[in-house]
Amino acid sequence: MKKLYIKTYGCQMNVYDSERMAEALARAGYEETSSPEQADMILLNTCHIREKAAEKIYSELGRYKGLKAARPDLRIGVAGCVAQAEGEEIMDRQPLVDLVVGPQAYHRLPDLMARVEAGEKALDTDFPAEDKFDHLPARAPRAQRPTAFLTVQEGCDKFCAFCVVPYTRGAEVSRPPERILAEARALVASGVREITLLGQNVNAYHGEGQGGDWSLARLIRALAEIEGLDRIRYTTSHPNDMSDDLIAAHGECEKLMPYLHLPVQSGSDRILKRMNRGHTAESYIRLIERIRAARPDLLLSGDSITGFPEETEEDFEATLDLVRAVNYGQAYSFKYSPRPGTPAAERDQLPEEVKSERLARLQALLSKQQRAAQEAMVGREVSVLFEREGREPGQMAGKSEYLHAVHVVAPDLAKGDLARVRITESLPNSLSGELV
Ligand code: 5AD
Ligand code: SF4
Repeated sequence: MKKLYIKTYGCQMNVYDSERMAEALARAGYEETSSPEQADMILLNTCHIREKAAEKIYSELGRYKGLKAARPDLRIGVAGCVAQAEGEEIMDRQPLVDLVVGPQAYHRLPDLMARVEAGEKALDTDFPAEDKFDHLPARAPRAQRPTAFLTVQEGCDKFCAFCVVPYTRGAEVSRPPERILAEARALVASGVREITLLGQNVNAYHGEGQGGDWSLARLIRALAEIEGLDRIRYTTSHPNDMSDDLIAAHGECEKLMPYLHLPVQSGSDRILKRMNRGHTAESYIRLIERIRAARPDLLLSGDSITGFPEETEEDFEATLDLVRAVNYGQAYSFKYSPRPGTPAAERDQLPEEVKSERLARLQALLSKQQRAAQEAMVGREVSVLFEREGREPGQMAGKSEYLHAVHVVAPDLAKGDLARVRITESLPNSLSGELV
């Protein structure tokens, strides 16, 4: 067997894609290694969402120069969103690179690899009409893993003015429900108890299958019928696609976990408009109220951006106000950074200090909320899916239904066990508790 080293950057969808690429390449005679020194093929699965993403990949590639000099048959590939965005430029700037493959062309990897092994350079950044997942091998069961990702939808048609996703991942495409259900059943048969459904705009899911159109809610209800599957999550959603049936599912479907990542990006209607978000601060807050009415204990997570072009102090304070009104249990926040090719990158930019100073203020508020949400768990009973051994002897670690990291001392527990835990203490990044 030849050896494959994959380094994954960015979001959960990249983690999922890396697994599927590894499975496809296993058919072409590659087994995974955790050491680049031993690899016959190094594949970087890249992310383009953050600042200087491409520059970071070029400097990572530069680090493989020595390896390649020592072992001329080492092959190096770049996949993911930087591959899509940069295309041929990568090979021009870094001659070490043999393969460039965009996220919609992974099913062509075995053919591309054959060309690369023959000493050619291969580039594929097409958006083919066929569904790549239909052309990838069926999932090989990976034993001993209680949680898994499953991509159900890819791409985005929303074109938020700051975001590269519609360009790198392409238009919104949903996979057929039957395929998703079959993949989920195979995962469960291999020991998976929790599945996180992935999509850049996952709640816009609209599969065509038996009995007509399938929404995400319908898909979740069908997945909930799978015996042995205990927990379902989904990410990431857009506020405008939170349909009534999905909100209802949060109240009705026990296996759907009470956690929702619902980015808002800004609390100022003027900025939301300039971002092309298609919702207002008020409509977002009303939506949260409706979701919480369906599932009162829901833990809400979000994303916001500070220092978007034209953001005034008043606009930023509207974001703080919204965050106060919503009260997030967990959240991410980012400084705006221009992505080439997106509309907002062409606009006048705010000074770096302004962006950073606002980010610091927002993060202070968000971490206060996050701490409070964690501390509120003390004394409560939660269910924990144990995923790994903890740091101390006899300790096991896992996640609660609210996605808090929880550890207990319980030497009899095994990976994949689901148990009731009473929370006794809130630590900086986790909770500790005892078995009930
Ligand atoms: N600058 C800053 N943050 C961004 N995000 C996406 N694009 C940008 C950008 N150009 C953030 C958004 C999104 C999250 C995944 O990353 O908040 O929800
Ligand atoms: Fe990007 Fe999300 Fe907006 Fe789509 S909805 S453009 S993925 S931020």
